[in-house]
Amino acid sequence: MNFISDSFSDVLIVGGGIIGLSLARKLHKKGVKKITILERGKLGQEASFAAAGMLAPQAETEKPDDFFHFCDESNKLYPNFAKELLDETGVDIELDKSGTLYLAFSERDVAEIRKRYEWQRDAGLQVEHLTAQEARKIEPFISPDVCEALFFPNDWQVENRKLLTALQKYAEINRIGIVESAEVKNLLIENGKTLSAETASQKFPAEKVILATGAWTSLIKSSENVPSLPNVRPIRGQMLSFHTAKRLLSKVIYSPRGYLVPRFDGRILAGATVEDVGFNKSVTQSGIDFLLENALEIAPSLVNLQLSEKWAGLRPFASDGLPILGTFPEIENLFTATAHYRNGILLAPLTAEILADKIAENFDSKYLEVFSPLRFAAARAICK
Ligand code: FAD
Ligand code: GLY
Repeated sequence: MNFISDSFSDVLIVGGGIIGLSLARKLHKKGVKKITILERGKLGQEASFAAAGMLAPQAETEKPDDFFHFCDESNKLYPNFAKELLDETGVDIELDKSGTLYLAFSERDVAEIRKRYEWQRDAGLQVEHLTAQEARKIEPFISPDVCEALFFPNDWQVENRKLLTALQKYAEINRIGIVESAEVKNLLIENGKTLSAETASQKFPAEKVILATGAWTSLIKSSENVPSLPNVRPIRGQMLSFHTAKRLLSKVIYSPRGYLVPRFDGRILAGATVEDVGFNKSVTQSGIDFLLENALEIAPSLVNLQLSEKWAGLRPFASDGLPILGTFPEIENLFTATAHYRNGILLAPLTAEILADKIAENFDSKYLEVFSPLRFAAARAICK
């Protein structure tokens, strides 16, 4: 679908995944008029579509640092985000607040979950330490080999594909420009200002440009050197899903090796591999074997279920594993929101909020400093 409101944009967003779409919505809500999203393929078909939709600050962070707080604050925005999207678009993004179980199967796993329990309890977070019986009472289909478990009542999930549908619908209803099959190859920058983003056949001039280009961010060239342009690379995640007639599990279930995510429609998603194999989205037999092994460790009765889908996506990864958000000192009107790695669904609402605050109101969240692209420039200077 191609819809361009005008050739000149107030804000041009390169990349139509969860980050670009959430940002477009937030900018529109703040009154920015001419917003255009350029997408090299179709909107919302890459990492954001491949994801499991877990909103898991407590299962997926390791200590109560800035990154944890960023995840936690974004998670807290979800109930309102879901409600607003339902009102705005009629799409229910299936925010499921049933919580997450984290299982231990060995002494090593027990040590891992006890450590997790301690830092979370010390940080004042809601976390329950369960015996195997207590865990199996909550979730009868988990393995009899479970030793003990944690329960995170505030780690939730969302149907990320419906979230993408809702955000796309928001863009269409509100006449946000959308240009698909438009791969930006180059940024035309003169005297420290981005003038336009260029595809092979077209120039898209804009007042402000945002790179929300996920795993592909480092492929974009620029006519003037931007020393702090981030280095982002793809990390493949393979997933599969089982089909069940009705929902067998009530919660997201984690182990140190994998996870199961039960959806309202009966599917159970099993994830995920973490592979550094370049821009390769193939599903492999070894990947499927790994996923099945981890899924059956959690819930052996899944062995009787039919596989319904297998897929892979490319997570955007920066060398320190953290998001890259904000501005470039050399270029006054260029912004980025990328490298959300394993948590881009979780982090979309807060990322959109802080970038929109910066772009529309020049307000600086502390997270723009914490996750600035400049941190790499500083590291590169030390290495020289
Ligand atoms: P993408 O969705 O990849 O979107 C980037 C878009 O930019 C793409 O559509 C791409 O085509 C476009 N683009 C790139 N370059 C250009 C260009 N030059 N010109 C025009 N368009 C361009 N996160 C969670 O929070 N919870 C989870 O449970 C979870 N599970 C995951 C499971 C798997 C298997 C994977 C792969 C990821 C998972 N993630 C999860 C991570 C999450 O999916 C990502 O962090 C998030 O989707 C990143 O969003 P994005 O918009 O930056 O990237
Ligand atoms: N956050 C889940 C994953 O990246 O696999």
